[in-house]
Amino acid sequence: MPRDKELVELVSPIAFRAATRVIERIEAKSISFDAAFQETMQEFKLSAEEQKISFLLAKRTLENIGPPIYLLRKNNKQDLPLRRKGAFYVAFYLASSSPSFTLDRIRALRGGLVSDSLLNLLTPRNLDRLFNELEEMPITLRLSYKESVPPLIVETFLSRFGEKATPEILKSLRYRQVWVRLNDTERKDWLEDYLKRKGFRFRQDKDYPYLLEILPTQEIPLPSLPPEIATYQDKASIIAVEALVSLRLKGVIVDLAAAPCMKASLLCRKIDHDAILLVDISEKRTRACIEIMKATNCNYQVINSDGRFFSSSKLFSAAVVDAPCTNSGAISRDPGLRLALWSLRREDLSRMKQVQLELLTNALKLVHRGALVLYSTCSLFPEEGEEVISSLKIPIKPLQPFLPPNIERTIHKTCGYCYRLYPHVHRTDGFFFSILSPR
Ligand SMILES: C[S@@+](CC[C@H](N)C(=O)[O-])C[C@H]1O[C@@H](n2cnc3c(N)ncnc32)[C@H](O)[C@@H]1O
Repeated sequence: MPRDKELVELVSPIAFRAATRVIERIEAKSISFDAAFQETMQEFKLSAEEQKISFLLAKRTLENIGPPIYLLRKNNKQDLPLRRKGAFYVAFYLASSSPSFTLDRIRALRGGLVSDSLLNLLTPRNLDRLFNELEEMPITLRLSYKESVPPLIVETFLSRFGEKATPEILKSLRYRQVWVRLNDTERKDWLEDYLKRKGFRFRQDKDYPYLLEILPTQEIPLPSLPPEIATYQDKASIIAVEALVSLRLKGVIVDLAAAPCMKASLLCRKIDHDAILLVDISEKRTRACIEIMKATNCNYQVINSDGRFFSSSKLFSAAVVDAPCTNSGAISRDPGLRLALWSLRREDLSRMKQVQLELLTNALKLVHRGALVLYSTCSLFPEEGEEVISSLKIPIKPLQPFLPPNIERTIHKTCGYCYRLYPHVHRTDGFFFSILSPR
């Protein structure tokens, strides 16, 4: 795989265009980096080598997206058409990453996507001036632009970990954590051989032997996995499901935000239960859910419906609400979130919180007294975690599950047994979960 210095030398006009399209797709559709990359590869017919270069170029551009966002805003150019904006971000990365990368080289790559006036913003003198300006900014903005992490996330880290620790934590978000869950333990050798052949190094997790941690040295697209053998799933999700399993659930379970059913499919494999009912509002995602559940031996039913209003004549033994959220916790796994969440505001969090609260309230009504309800979000924000639990109007009892040794309760005072995981501590997504029981 090319190093950054080599990368800038190897970029071709087609790789420049492909990287631009990846970034445009993320901004236009708020989809993940992997989804945007796959869609783009279907559009462009690239050689394996060009694919790798486009992948790394798009990823590096996103990991360094802060300064060009600032530069466009400063010059009142933030409303450029998305494709041109994407191309400017890529050009910025190239111009700022290596002194040998001259504006003439960008001219040879840009194919009409970056105008001369935008290119002139990227002279070495202008870039020096820009980086000096960033140093003078108040701490949240300075860290946000310099480390290319959305301002609301920086604010959250600053208030949780303080000014001294936060800069290093933000830097650590560049390591891409990937975990693979083995679904068929008899095919472990096959999986290990396959990953090695694809150029990956990995190690078995010490807490859950069916989990492999991909070591963060490879920066190439992840290969697809046959779901009956293995699936990508972050360790944070595994910990939440295992926590629920540790409290001995059985009977009929309902999952109110189920798709694509990664947690439900693990739950099915782990416990002896009667059936699992899988509810999700998205038709497309429920189709993905069916594919994943087919690879299990579970008794399941998938329902395309709004979990806030789902009702049933019988009460359930347990419920799962892995709620829709900002997905901010996945920022180290998905570099596209650096761009997609850049303009996130507190009002957006309040709107998310309202949906989350309604889903959890409904789940608590759908289960019998003393049943277990898992609430989780892949989010760094207290608004989507602790504050949802403490805003419940229904009397609840928080439960203490069995957990791996390094997982501590969150510091939030009003949340009973609430747990948080962080990329820089647990090598997982940033994640929140709590298990409750209606009183
Ligand atoms: C974080 S994802 C769930 C992931 C899933 N639990 C898993 O492990 O694969 C959140 C899901 O909530 C769904 N969703 C959003 N609003 C919903 C609602 N009002 N009712 C039901 N599902 C909803 C989304 O379509 C999305 O599939």
